[in-house]
Amino acid sequence: MLDHSGNTQGQKVAVFGAAGHTGRFVVAELLRRGFDVIAIGRDKERLANLAEGNGSVEARLAAVEDPSSLDRALEGAAVVINCAGPFLDTAEPVISAALRARIAYLDMSAEQPAVLSIFERFAEPAKAAGIAIVPAMGFYGGLGDLLATAAIGDWTSVDDLRIAIALDSWLPTQGTRRTGERNTAHRLVIGDGQLQPLPSPAPTTSWRFASPFDSQDMIELPFSETILISRHLKVGAFHNYLNLTPLRDLRDVNTPPPEAADETGRSAQVFLMEVVAQRKGEVRRTCVTGRDIYAVTAPLIVEAVQRLLRDPIEKGGVFAPGQLFDAGQFLQSLAPRHLAYKPAIPV
Ligand SMILES: NC(=O)c1ccc[n+]([C@@H]2O[C@H](COP(=O)([O-])OP(=O)(O)OC[C@H]3O[C@@H](n4cnc5c(N)ncnc54)[C@H](OP(=O)(O)O)[C@@H]3O)[C@@H](O)[C@H]2O)c1
Repeated sequence: MLDHSGNTQGQKVAVFGAAGHTGRFVVAELLRRGFDVIAIGRDKERLANLAEGNGSVEARLAAVEDPSSLDRALEGAAVVINCAGPFLDTAEPVISAALRARIAYLDMSAEQPAVLSIFERFAEPAKAAGIAIVPAMGFYGGLGDLLATAAIGDWTSVDDLRIAIALDSWLPTQGTRRTGERNTAHRLVIGDGQLQPLPSPAPTTSWRFASPFDSQDMIELPFSETILISRHLKVGAFHNYLNLTPLRDLRDVNTPPPEAADETGRSAQVFLMEVVAQRKGEVRRTCVTGRDIYAVTAPLIVEAVQRLLRDPIEKGGVFAPGQLFDAGQFLQSLAPRHLAYKPAIPV
């Protein structure tokens, strides 16, 4: 039952992996916007803690190995958000359940092979069912895709597209560490208009950001945005770079998990993501800044859910966010609460 006025009252959103670090941010953002939440997971105690004392959260146990438990868990939901990574293990069973329930599916996978496989395996079934599947709607993946789509704007193609990400630190969650160990596939970039392997060793460069990052040493490190961009933007070459400081944190086994620095649970981590698009000698540049890459994933994915429920799609399929939404307007709608967005300017 969809309310086209945008009223979220009484609409139930299922969150698989609700008790994880990012899942909790997603649940909080859904509640803030007035949705009811079906919190799904495999750990009874963690789910009970999450739902305790909140009449708008219903806890339901389910496991990816047990399709009927997923079917029961999704009963009554208008849409499902999958927050349980590695998505190489959870995406296919949860999408299959979403298709059986005939509801939209979104996740926040940063894993290239998981997202590639979703496009390849589920485009046809999703189309046949009239269901929207939106993988990678997080900081890595969807945010880069939206920013690139906004930068490209009215151009029908670009010769060269780059995303540069600067983080002041990266205190990884257990899920990030597990996902990194699980996802050992060789990373992909776009060259000559096609997906192709990242050269080994990965190229390095330096990048001049705005304050507070200024000049940073970078390494090419593509995530799921590469797959999303390859599906709907006509780009000759695409490269995604990350500065070296957060990578050192990530690679150090002693780096602790993120710590809340305000009442919403956000950490003090600061991010800046910049896109530079070039076409026939013309250059456009745009960026977003904000706090906490895990926390910002919640408003990104919940905004997508709210838009999907408000304006149901005409034809089903697997979509990059830039295909479904007005990218610039989407980013603007998250400002200033969740991020700061500087629309594209010619340089
Ligand atoms: N694209 C992005 O920018 C972005 C942003 C945030 C997170 N992520 C991704 O989201 C995932 C979760 O991250 P997180 O920080 O929330 O990690 P987390 O705090 O460790 O939470 C992971 C959650 O997933 C559940 N889970 C994992 N494997 C499962 C399986 N096979 N079946 C059922 N549940 C499973 C865990 O349940 P248990 O507690 O029962 O193990 C837990 O609830 C990671 O893959 C991470 O890379 C991506």
